[in-house]
Amino acid sequence: MPIIIKLFTNFIMRLLSKRLLLLLVLGTFLYFACKREPVPVLPEKTQIVITPDGDTIYITNTDTVYINNPPPLTSHPCSPDTVYFEQQLLPLLQSNCASPNCHDNITHEEGVWLTSYEFTLTTGGVRLTSPTQSKLYTSTSPNASERMPPPPRAALTTAQRALILKWIQQGAQDLHCDGECDTTQYSYTAVIKPILALRCNGCHGASAPSGNISYATYAGVKANVDSGKFWGSIVHANGIKPMPYPQGSAQIPDCDKIKIKKWIDAGAPEN
Ligand code: HEC
Repeated sequence: MPIIIKLFTNFIMRLLSKRLLLLLVLGTFLYFACKREPVPVLPEKTQIVITPDGDTIYITNTDTVYINNPPPLTSHPCSPDTVYFEQQLLPLLQSNCASPNCHDNITHEEGVWLTSYEFTLTTGGVRLTSPTQSKLYTSTSPNASERMPPPPRAALTTAQRALILKWIQQGAQDLHCDGECDTTQYSYTAVIKPILALRCNGCHGASAPSGNISYATYAGVKANVDSGKFWGSIVHANGIKPMPYPQGSAQIPDCDKIKIKKWIDAGAPEN
């Protein structure tokens, strides 16, 4: 092959490989630059409301409500086998143990504060190595010498005690889940009553009810609803004591508030 052709071929090859290399680099760069996480698509007609507390509420066209997590993206779905401190244990402790002159932020009787995860873990007598011997659990036994909560307050139910034990057995973790919130259902018996039982009745139950307000019967709840104080206390309206207790507790979840509001707007029936 004449030398001139060889040189020419070499020149072309070098040019080509340089171009190829350039193309490869540019292509890779463009690929990564353009590759984006898929944009989540919300269900049609999802309404988004931001509350004064900074929570984002998504209301889908089926009237299902999701708090802070858009419908298709639930990051911590609730599992029925797990005890969630935030949703299940904290309300139970607040309502039954953190009442005035007990384990609230002011009195913290015997150095026990049951008003947050950190305090419960550090002062509640939780024993991860022998859960059944945890003071948090043993003191609630109906046979305990100084039963908690003390009479005249009602003792915890078997189910409530089982929940405490299960939480410790699962490692006493600070777990939170984003449950689905269906606000189409808000009957008194199936929906409202259990909310009050969890969040209010430790103090507003049948025996020695706080502020002389008892939610042990429908009549008691209805009278309080009619006075306007029930809803006012839930949304922390001016001039009404903010609930739930203890001092500085967050308002009940938006999901519960929406159901309660719908029930009150429907005339607060005993259904
Ligand atoms: C840990 C105890 C505790 C829990 C839980 C609790 N309350 Fe109360 N509640 C009190 C006490 C104590 C008072 C009386 C406060 C006072 O008079 O200083 C009170 C008073 C009230 C009042 C009267 C307010 C006023 O200004 O007259 C309403 C209404 C009320 N609670 C509703 C609720 C509702 C609804 C819940 C549940 C979402 C709830 N409470 C949960 C302890 C509690």
